[in-house]
Amino acid sequence: MTRRTTLTTLSAAIALAGSMALGGCSAGDGEPELEVGGAFMPQPVGDMAGGFLTITNSAGTADRLTGATSPLSDDVQIHETKDQKMRQVKSLDIPANGELKLERGGNHLMFMGIKKQPKQGEKVRVELRFEKSGPMEVDLPVEAATHNPAKH
Ligand code: CU
Repeated sequence: MTRRTTLTTLSAAIALAGSMALGGCSAGDGEPELEVGGAFMPQPVGDMAGGFLTITNSAGTADRLTGATSPLSDDVQIHETKDQKMRQVKSLDIPANGELKLERGGNHLMFMGIKKQPKQGEKVRVELRFEKSGPMEVDLPVEAATHNPAKH
């Protein structure tokens, strides 16, 4: 909502100024440039596991996280948390020049029916899939079950 209003206002301002075309630095051209940081998996205590990471997009083109696969689970889902309840979603937006945070209490990957119990210190391979970018392999270091980098 807010963004649309801002863009409209911006376009109007540019039109009024009557100078440069939108061409050179307009969003929507080119490829998203994605980078993954801060990835981890809390050591699972049941038959499901969560995956957390931040995807940073340094390009002017947005992308979407559309899925993930892993040797740990045949069903890796994308979840969002609303009103402290999580539910599966088809994809999550990775804004242009912005980031998508998968963090505790919010959006996350959920590995259903895990095939083994990864232990702290091990790594879990996951392949992320995107709407525009090619697939990306990420290793999630397994941390303590209560690990939460957002809390200090
Ligand atoms: Cu979940």
